[in-house]
Amino acid sequence: MRIFIAGATGAIGRRLVPLLVAQGHHVTALTRRPHPEPDGSGGRLAGGTTAADGIGESSGRLGGGGSSVRGIGGSSERLGGGTTAADGIGGSSGRLDGGTAVGGSGGATVGGVTTVVGDVYDAERLREVIAEARPDVVMHQLTDLASRDFAANSRIRREGTRNLVDAALAAGVRRVVSQSIAWAYEPGSTPATESTPLDLHAPDATRRATVEAVATLEAITAEAPEWVVLRYGMLYGPDTWYTKGALMADLASTGNLPAGPDITSFLHVDDAATAATAALTWPTGPVNIVDNDPAPASTWTPAFAQSVGAPPPKTTTSSNATASRPTTPAAPTGAAATSDPTASDAPDEAGAAAGGPTSDPTAGDAPGEPGVARTPWARGASNAYARSLGWSPAHPTWRTGFTS
Ligand SMILES: NC(=O)c1ccc[n+]([C@@H]2O[C@H](COP(=O)([O-])OP(=O)(O)OC[C@H]3O[C@@H](n4cnc5c(N)ncnc54)[C@H](OP(=O)(O)O)[C@@H]3O)[C@@H](O)[C@H]2O)c1
Repeated sequence: MRIFIAGATGAIGRRLVPLLVAQGHHVTALTRRPHPEPDGSGGRLAGGTTAADGIGESSGRLGGGGSSVRGIGGSSERLGGGTTAADGIGGSSGRLDGGTAVGGSGGATVGGVTTVVGDVYDAERLREVIAEARPDVVMHQLTDLASRDFAANSRIRREGTRNLVDAALAAGVRRVVSQSIAWAYEPGSTPATESTPLDLHAPDATRRATVEAVATLEAITAEAPEWVVLRYGMLYGPDTWYTKGALMADLASTGNLPAGPDITSFLHVDDAATAATAALTWPTGPVNIVDNDPAPASTWTPAFAQSVGAPPPKTTTSSNATASRPTTPAAPTGAAATSDPTASDAPDEAGAAAGGPTSDPTAGDAPGEPGVARTPWARGASNAYARSLGWSPAHPTWRTGFTS
């Protein structure tokens, strides 16, 4: 198949591209930033992890040699200044198939990956590159979370998805696969299934705004003749917030990781990528992509803290689990913008990440209250449907996954 990926350089996309190429698909990868960083690392494309190696290594190798790629791709002008578009991804894919380089329709192509430069907010450019790519499938792995700007993330869900799906439909693309989340469901006492309604009437305005953006992303995706919405659980593993040296490890180290009763469904980032490849042939609809083991923060935080070398949280039982819930979490490196969880819709993305939405002190149940109730929507999600489709997580539980 020919697959256009928006978000190819993100935490999931970097793992996804090599998988797709290895399966024989042709990938067109959208990025805003094809150029290597000043340090020669290749920037976002140089992930340094197993899957990212396929993309990232090229940056260094081709960073000073974009002309060779230009010559091959012959597309420098059409890339609108992106003459080094292949610098980032193109050469890397050579590792996947021996580095054979061929010309591409919208950008320089090497080894099954065409890199095109564009911004999802540039609708005209997006239409152009998708039309040129002639994809069978458009895959939406866009987020805007690198700086933890949750308003920006909601914007990309609404406007980015709109532009992407409009461009896909204009190009006659039949299938769209989009990244969503598995914690936008309405309150309940059991793990949510795909038929559980989204939490569109949440009383908390920030939560509601996020769920509305998620619902918009999903509704726009559903305009395609065939579509799959991947409702991912909370990502952990390399390049995520849940790894040594990252946001949640910093919170754990400073004793600010909530250990309450709120339930999270986790997902190893590698499993997010395998689900996206499987979704190329799945029936239309939303699918929860989570591990087998939804768990309260009181259970998983000690394991996570241990895995990143942090001290255990102060409390580990649900009866008094909020004792370590933060009011003003210490600002972790690179996360200052949302170190105050009331500043954005952090109660959604980071709140669940940090043990549930109640990390937002405006939610009402103050830290330290004994016996605090679980936040009603922090219920986890079921992967029964995904497993019925033949997908199963290689990391079935965070219990082993955190340390893998
Ligand atoms: N379910 C989850 O728990 C979940 C899901 C996703 C992310 N996260 C967390 O968020 C953190 C950051 O995620 P990330 O590494 O994937 O990075 P990110 O900064 O959120 O970017 C993700 C992808 O979106 C692309 N993108 C963003 N804005 C764009 C725009 N305007 N036009 C075109 N492309 C755009 C980026 O491409 P370029 O920068 O190359 O242009 C990149 O490929 C991770 O550490 C992860 O833990 C969690």
